[in-house]
Amino acid sequence: MSVYVASTTAPVNIATLKYWGKRDKNLNLPTNSSISVTLAQQDLRTLTSVATSESFPEDKLWLNGKEESLQSERTQHCLQDLRDLRKQLEAADPSLPRFSQWKLRIVSENNFPTAAGLASSAAGFAALVVAIAKLYQLPQSYSDISKIARKGSGSACRSLFGGYVAWEMGSNPDGSDSKAVEIAPMEHWPQMKAAVLVACADKKDTPSTSGMQQTVATSDLFQERINVVVPKRFEEMKQAILNKDFALFAELTMKDSNSFHATCLDSFPPIFYMNDTSRKIVKLCHFINAFYGETIVAYTYDAGPNAVLYYLQENEEKLFAFIYKVFQNNQGWDSKFSAKELAKFSEYFST
Ligand code: DP6
Repeated sequence: MSVYVASTTAPVNIATLKYWGKRDKNLNLPTNSSISVTLAQQDLRTLTSVATSESFPEDKLWLNGKEESLQSERTQHCLQDLRDLRKQLEAADPSLPRFSQWKLRIVSENNFPTAAGLASSAAGFAALVVAIAKLYQLPQSYSDISKIARKGSGSACRSLFGGYVAWEMGSNPDGSDSKAVEIAPMEHWPQMKAAVLVACADKKDTPSTSGMQQTVATSDLFQERINVVVPKRFEEMKQAILNKDFALFAELTMKDSNSFHATCLDSFPPIFYMNDTSRKIVKLCHFINAFYGETIVAYTYDAGPNAVLYYLQENEEKLFAFIYKVFQNNQGWDSKFSAKELAKFSEYFST
Protein backbone atom coordinates (compact mmCIF):
# COMPACT_ATOMS: atom_id res chain seq x y z
CA MET A 1 0.00 0.00 0.00
CA SER A 2 1.49 3.39 -0.95
CA VAL A 3 2.37 5.99 1.67
CA TYR A 4 2.44 9.65 0.59
CA VAL A 5 4.60 12.11 2.55
CA ALA A 6 5.20 15.89 2.75
CA SER A 7 7.30 18.04 5.10
CA THR A 8 7.66 21.70 5.92
CA THR A 9 9.05 24.08 8.52
CA ALA A 10 7.37 27.14 10.02
CA PRO A 11 9.04 29.88 12.09
CA VAL A 12 8.12 31.16 15.54
CA ASN A 13 6.78 34.70 15.16
CA ILE A 14 6.87 37.51 17.70
CA ALA A 15 4.18 40.18 17.50
CA THR A 16 5.30 43.79 17.54
CA LEU A 17 1.63 44.85 17.46
CA LYS A 18 -0.20 42.40 19.67
CA TYR A 19 -3.26 40.27 19.00
CA TRP A 20 -5.21 40.22 22.25
CA GLY A 21 -8.94 39.51 22.20
CA LYS A 22 -11.37 37.43 20.14
CA ARG A 23 -14.62 38.61 18.62
CA ASP A 24 -15.52 35.01 17.68
CA LYS A 25 -14.03 32.23 19.78
CA ASN A 26 -15.05 29.37 17.51
CA LEU A 27 -13.59 30.86 14.31
CA ASN A 28 -10.73 32.52 16.22
CA LEU A 29 -11.48 35.98 14.88
CA PRO A 30 -9.53 38.78 16.57
CA THR A 31 -10.72 42.11 17.94
CA ASN A 32 -7.77 43.86 16.28
CA SER A 33 -5.28 43.47 13.46
CA SER A 34 -1.70 42.62 14.46
CA ILE A 35 1.84 42.66 13.08
CA SER A 36 4.79 40.34 13.63
CA VAL A 37 8.43 40.27 12.66
CA THR A 38 10.12 36.94 11.97
CA LEU A 39 13.82 37.02 11.21
CA ALA A 40 15.90 34.30 9.57
CA GLN A 41 18.60 34.87 12.12
CA GLN A 42 16.18 33.83 14.89
CA ASP A 43 15.76 30.51 13.12
CA LEU A 44 13.41 29.08 15.71
CA ARG A 45 11.24 26.64 13.83
CA THR A 46 8.91 23.69 13.92
CA LEU A 47 9.58 20.93 11.41
CA THR A 48 6.54 18.82 10.58
CA SER A 49 6.21 15.78 8.35
CA VAL A 50 2.86 14.23 7.45
CA ALA A 51 2.04 10.95 5.80
CA THR A 52 -1.17 9.43 4.57
CA SER A 53 -2.05 5.95 3.41
CA GLU A 54 -5.19 3.93 2.87
CA SER A 55 -3.78 1.45 5.37
CA PHE A 56 -3.52 3.84 8.36
CA PRO A 57 -6.27 2.96 10.85
CA GLU A 58 -6.39 6.33 12.69
CA ASP A 59 -4.95 9.84 12.79
CA LYS A 60 -1.85 10.02 15.01
CA LEU A 61 0.51 12.77 16.15
CA TRP A 62 3.99 12.69 17.71
CA LEU A 63 5.24 15.97 19.16
CA ASN A 64 8.93 16.15 20.06
CA GLY A 65 9.05 12.36 20.16
CA LYS A 66 5.96 11.90 22.32
CA GLU A 67 2.56 10.75 21.11
CA GLU A 68 -0.08 13.45 21.66
CA SER A 69 -3.81 13.63 21.21
CA LEU A 70 -5.28 15.15 18.06
CA GLN A 71 -8.67 15.44 19.65
CA SER A 72 -8.69 19.14 20.54
CA GLU A 73 -11.50 21.02 18.87
CA ARG A 74 -9.01 23.42 17.26
CA THR A 75 -6.92 20.67 15.68
CA GLN A 76 -10.03 18.87 14.46
CA HIS A 77 -11.26 22.12 12.93
CA CYS A 78 -8.00 22.49 10.96
CA LEU A 79 -7.98 18.85 9.79
CA GLN A 80 -11.61 19.09 8.69
CA ASP A 81 -11.03 22.29 6.68
CA LEU A 82 -8.02 20.75 4.92
CA ARG A 83 -9.90 17.55 4.13
CA ASP A 84 -12.83 19.56 2.76
CA LEU A 85 -10.51 21.42 0.37
CA ARG A 86 -8.91 18.16 -0.72
CA LYS A 87 -12.39 16.68 -1.29
CA GLN A 88 -13.14 19.50 -3.73
CA LEU A 89 -10.02 18.60 -5.73
CA GLU A 90 -10.93 14.93 -5.74
CA ALA A 91 -14.46 15.73 -6.91
CA ALA A 92 -13.03 17.70 -9.84
CA ASP A 93 -10.48 15.02 -10.73
CA PRO A 94 -11.60 11.44 -10.01
CA SER A 95 -8.14 10.08 -10.85
CA LEU A 96 -6.69 11.59 -7.63
CA PRO A 97 -6.13 9.26 -4.67
CA ARG A 98 -8.80 9.72 -1.99
CA PHE A 99 -6.53 11.38 0.61
CA SER A 100 -9.53 13.19 2.08
CA GLN A 101 -10.81 9.85 3.38
CA TRP A 102 -7.50 8.43 4.58
CA LYS A 103 -5.93 8.86 8.00
CA LEU A 104 -2.82 10.91 8.75
CA ARG A 105 0.39 10.36 10.67
CA ILE A 106 2.02 13.57 11.82
CA VAL A 107 5.50 14.00 13.30
CA SER A 108 6.48 17.42 14.62
CA GLU A 109 9.72 18.68 16.22
CA ASN A 110 10.77 22.10 17.53
CA ASN A 111 14.40 23.12 17.00
CA PHE A 112 14.30 25.43 20.03
CA PRO A 113 14.27 24.49 23.70
CA THR A 114 10.89 24.72 25.41
CA ALA A 115 12.83 26.44 28.18
CA ALA A 116 13.24 29.49 25.94
CA GLY A 117 9.68 30.25 27.01
CA LEU A 118 8.62 31.06 23.47
CA ALA A 119 5.11 30.25 22.35
CA SER A 120 5.40 27.21 20.14
CA SER A 121 1.73 26.87 19.19
CA ALA A 122 2.08 29.45 16.40
CA ALA A 123 4.88 27.63 14.59
CA GLY A 124 3.28 24.27 15.44
CA PHE A 125 -0.12 24.95 13.87
CA ALA A 126 1.41 26.78 10.91
CA ALA A 127 3.71 23.83 10.12
CA LEU A 128 0.89 21.32 10.59
CA VAL A 129 -1.48 23.12 8.24
CA VAL A 130 1.14 23.86 5.57
CA ALA A 131 2.50 20.29 5.61
CA ILE A 132 -0.98 18.85 5.06
CA ALA A 133 -1.80 21.48 2.42
CA LYS A 134 1.37 20.40 0.59
CA LEU A 135 0.52 16.71 0.94
CA TYR A 136 -2.96 17.39 -0.44
CA GLN A 137 -1.50 19.61 -3.19
CA LEU A 138 -4.00 22.33 -2.42
CA PRO A 139 -3.88 25.20 -4.90
CA GLN A 140 -4.83 27.90 -2.35
CA SER A 141 -2.45 30.77 -1.59
CA TYR A 142 -0.57 31.02 1.74
CA SER A 143 -2.93 33.81 2.79
CA ASP A 144 -5.90 31.51 2.21
CA ILE A 145 -4.24 28.64 4.04
CA SER A 146 -3.42 31.04 6.91
CA LYS A 147 -7.17 31.22 7.64
CA ILE A 148 -7.07 27.53 8.54
CA ALA A 149 -3.94 27.93 10.72
CA ARG A 150 -5.73 30.82 12.45
CA LYS A 151 -8.39 28.40 13.70
CA GLY A 152 -5.64 26.35 15.36
CA SER A 153 -4.11 29.35 17.12
CA GLY A 154 -4.63 32.96 16.14
CA SER A 155 -0.96 33.89 16.04
CA ALA A 156 -0.22 30.79 13.91
CA CYS A 157 -1.61 32.48 10.80
CA ARG A 158 1.32 34.91 10.88
CA SER A 159 3.86 32.03 10.93
CA LEU A 160 3.04 31.10 7.33
CA PHE A 161 5.27 33.95 6.24
CA GLY A 162 8.76 35.02 7.24
CA GLY A 163 9.75 38.68 7.48
CA TYR A 164 7.22 41.41 8.26
CA VAL A 165 3.68 40.09 8.46
CA ALA A 166 0.24 41.53 9.14
CA TRP A 167 -2.79 39.61 10.32
CA GLU A 168 -5.71 41.62 8.96
CA MET A 169 -8.62 41.18 11.35
CA GLY A 170 -11.21 41.37 8.55
CA SER A 171 -14.89 42.17 9.04
CA ASN A 172 -16.79 39.22 7.55
CA PRO A 173 -18.64 37.19 10.20
CA ASP A 174 -17.47 33.93 8.60
CA GLY A 175 -13.82 34.95 8.93
CA SER A 176 -13.19 34.71 5.18
CA ASP A 177 -11.17 37.95 5.23
CA SER A 178 -9.29 37.39 8.51
CA LYS A 179 -5.91 36.31 7.18
CA ALA A 180 -2.15 36.90 7.20
CA VAL A 181 -0.47 38.95 4.48
CA GLU A 182 3.15 39.82 3.92
CA ILE A 183 4.03 43.48 4.57
CA ALA A 184 7.60 42.98 3.35
CA PRO A 185 9.99 40.06 3.04
CA MET A 186 12.94 39.72 5.40
CA GLU A 187 15.33 40.98 2.71
CA HIS A 188 13.52 44.33 2.66
CA TRP A 189 15.15 45.28 5.97
CA PRO A 190 17.87 42.69 6.59
CA GLN A 191 19.70 44.77 9.22
CA MET A 192 16.92 44.07 11.73
CA LYS A 193 17.88 41.60 14.44
CA ALA A 194 16.19 40.14 17.48
CA ALA A 195 17.45 38.80 20.79
CA VAL A 196 15.46 36.81 23.34
CA LEU A 197 16.23 37.52 26.99
CA VAL A 198 14.89 34.72 29.14
CA ALA A 199 13.64 36.18 32.40
CA CYS A 200 11.98 32.97 33.52
CA ALA A 201 11.58 29.67 31.70
CA ASP A 202 8.53 28.48 33.67
CA LYS A 203 5.20 27.85 31.98
CA LYS A 204 3.02 31.00 31.97
CA ASP A 205 0.35 31.06 34.62
CA THR A 206 -2.56 32.37 32.52
CA PRO A 207 -2.78 30.83 29.03
CA SER A 208 -3.29 33.41 26.26
CA THR A 209 -6.70 32.06 25.25
CA SER A 210 -8.28 32.44 28.69
CA GLY A 211 -6.25 35.58 29.48
CA MET A 212 -7.58 37.44 26.47
CA GLN A 213 -11.16 36.33 27.19
CA GLN A 214 -10.80 37.76 30.70
CA THR A 215 -9.49 41.04 29.29
CA VAL A 216 -12.30 41.34 26.72
CA ALA A 217 -14.91 40.69 29.41
CA THR A 218 -13.57 42.96 32.15
CA SER A 219 -11.12 45.66 31.00
CA ASP A 220 -12.39 49.19 30.26
CA LEU A 221 -9.02 50.17 28.86
CA PHE A 222 -9.34 47.40 26.29
CA GLN A 223 -12.13 49.23 24.39
CA GLU A 224 -9.88 52.23 23.87
CA ARG A 225 -7.09 49.92 22.75
CA ILE A 226 -9.05 48.09 20.05
CA ASN A 227 -11.16 51.01 18.80
CA VAL A 228 -8.71 53.90 18.90
CA VAL A 229 -5.11 52.94 19.67
CA VAL A 230 -4.45 49.85 17.56
CA PRO A 231 -6.15 50.83 14.26
CA LYS A 232 -3.92 53.93 14.05
CA ARG A 233 -0.82 52.09 15.23
CA PHE A 234 -1.34 49.32 12.70
CA GLU A 235 -1.05 51.75 9.79
CA GLU A 236 1.85 53.62 11.38
CA MET A 237 3.81 50.44 12.04
CA LYS A 238 3.31 49.21 8.50
CA GLN A 239 4.67 52.53 7.23
CA ALA A 240 7.61 52.46 9.66
CA ILE A 241 8.54 49.02 8.31
CA LEU A 242 8.15 50.05 4.67
CA ASN A 243 10.22 53.20 5.29
CA LYS A 244 12.78 51.33 7.44
CA ASP A 245 12.26 53.92 10.14
CA PHE A 246 13.73 52.14 13.18
CA ALA A 247 13.06 54.92 15.70
CA LEU A 248 9.36 54.93 14.85
CA PHE A 249 9.14 51.14 14.60
CA ALA A 250 10.79 50.82 18.02
CA GLU A 251 8.58 53.41 19.67
CA LEU A 252 5.40 51.78 18.36
CA THR A 253 6.61 48.31 19.33
CA MET A 254 7.43 49.33 22.91
CA LYS A 255 4.21 51.31 23.28
CA ASP A 256 2.15 48.42 22.02
CA SER A 257 3.77 45.95 24.40
CA ASN A 258 3.07 48.38 27.25
CA SER A 259 -0.51 48.91 26.10
CA PHE A 260 -1.18 45.18 25.88
CA HIS A 261 0.26 44.54 29.36
CA ALA A 262 -1.70 47.52 30.69
CA THR A 263 -4.96 45.90 29.53
CA CYS A 264 -3.86 42.70 31.26
CA LEU A 265 -3.34 44.64 34.47
CA ASP A 266 -6.70 46.34 33.92
CA SER A 267 -8.45 42.96 33.66
CA PHE A 268 -10.33 41.81 36.72
CA PRO A 269 -8.82 39.90 38.41
CA PRO A 270 -5.61 41.34 36.95
CA ILE A 271 -3.23 39.25 34.84
CA PHE A 272 0.51 39.62 35.43
CA TYR A 273 2.84 38.38 32.74
CA MET A 274 5.91 40.54 33.34
CA ASN A 275 8.08 40.07 36.42
CA ASP A 276 10.72 42.23 38.15
CA THR A 277 13.41 41.15 35.68
CA SER A 278 11.13 42.02 32.74
CA ARG A 279 10.59 45.48 34.18
CA LYS A 280 14.30 45.90 34.76
CA ILE A 281 14.89 45.18 31.07
CA VAL A 282 12.26 47.76 30.08
CA LYS A 283 14.05 50.31 32.21
CA LEU A 284 17.39 49.29 30.77
CA CYS A 285 16.19 49.73 27.16
CA HIS A 286 14.90 53.22 27.87
CA PHE A 287 18.14 54.02 29.63
CA ILE A 288 20.21 52.76 26.69
CA ASN A 289 18.21 54.82 24.19
CA ALA A 290 18.54 57.92 26.37
CA PHE A 291 22.24 57.24 26.91
CA TYR A 292 23.00 57.19 23.18
CA GLY A 293 20.56 59.99 22.39
CA GLU A 294 18.90 57.84 19.74
CA THR A 295 16.63 54.84 19.69
CA ILE A 296 18.71 51.75 19.15
CA VAL A 297 16.59 49.10 20.86
CA ALA A 298 12.94 48.12 21.29
CA TYR A 299 11.51 45.57 23.73
CA THR A 300 8.35 43.55 23.45
CA TYR A 301 6.76 40.97 25.77
CA ASP A 302 4.17 38.34 24.91
CA ALA A 303 2.05 36.53 27.48
CA GLY A 304 5.08 35.83 29.66
CA PRO A 305 8.08 37.51 31.30
CA ASN A 306 10.70 36.99 28.55
CA ALA A 307 11.84 39.97 26.52
CA VAL A 308 12.37 40.04 22.78
CA LEU A 309 14.63 42.93 21.80
CA TYR A 310 14.72 44.33 18.28
CA TYR A 311 17.74 46.30 17.09
CA LEU A 312 19.73 47.00 13.95
CA GLN A 313 22.88 45.00 13.25
CA GLU A 314 25.03 48.14 13.30
CA ASN A 315 24.05 48.75 16.95
CA GLU A 316 24.65 45.25 18.25
CA GLU A 317 27.85 46.07 20.08
CA LYS A 318 26.42 49.24 21.61
CA LEU A 319 23.42 47.33 22.89
CA PHE A 320 25.17 44.25 24.22
CA ALA A 321 27.81 46.25 26.00
CA PHE A 322 24.98 47.25 28.31
CA ILE A 323 23.13 43.94 28.38
CA TYR A 324 26.23 42.01 29.40
CA LYS A 325 27.19 44.55 32.03
CA VAL A 326 23.84 44.19 33.70
CA PHE A 327 23.09 40.54 33.27
CA GLN A 328 26.42 38.77 33.02
CA ASN A 329 28.66 40.44 35.57
CA ASN A 330 30.86 42.20 33.05
CA GLN A 331 31.60 39.05 31.05
CA GLY A 332 31.41 39.04 27.29
CA TRP A 333 31.88 42.22 25.37
CA ASP A 334 34.50 44.83 26.09
CA SER A 335 32.63 47.95 26.86
CA LYS A 336 33.81 51.22 25.46
CA PHE A 337 32.36 53.21 28.32
CA SER A 338 34.40 55.32 30.63
CA ALA A 339 34.54 54.52 34.33
CA LYS A 340 32.48 57.63 34.98
CA GLU A 341 29.77 56.59 32.56
CA LEU A 342 29.62 53.14 34.06
CA ALA A 343 29.41 54.55 37.57
CA LYS A 344 26.41 56.59 36.49
CA PHE A 345 24.94 53.51 34.95
CA SER A 346 25.39 51.30 38.04
CA GLU A 347 23.90 54.02 40.17
CA TYR A 348 20.84 54.06 37.93
CA PHE A 349 20.27 50.34 38.29
CA SER A 350 20.97 50.05 41.97
CA THR A 351 18.07 52.39 42.75
C1 DP6 B 1 0.37 37.80 23.41
O1 DP6 B 1 -2.31 33.00 19.29
O2 DP6 B 1 -1.59 31.97 21.48
O3 DP6 B 1 1.36 36.29 21.86
O4 DP6 B 1 -5.58 32.27 19.32
O5 DP6 B 1 -6.07 31.62 21.65
O6 DP6 B 1 -4.31 30.39 20.38
P1 DP6 B 1 -5.02 31.70 20.58
O7 DP6 B 1 -3.96 32.72 21.16
P2 DP6 B 1 -2.44 32.94 20.76
O8 DP6 B 1 -2.21 34.39 21.38
C2 DP6 B 1 -1.05 35.12 21.18
C3 DP6 B 1 -1.04 36.30 22.05
C4 DP6 B 1 0.23 37.12 22.06
C5 DP6 B 1 0.20 38.23 21.01
C6 DP6 B 1 0.44 37.86 19.57
O9 DP6 B 1 1.14 36.88 19.27
O10 DP6 B 1 -0.05 38.63 18.72
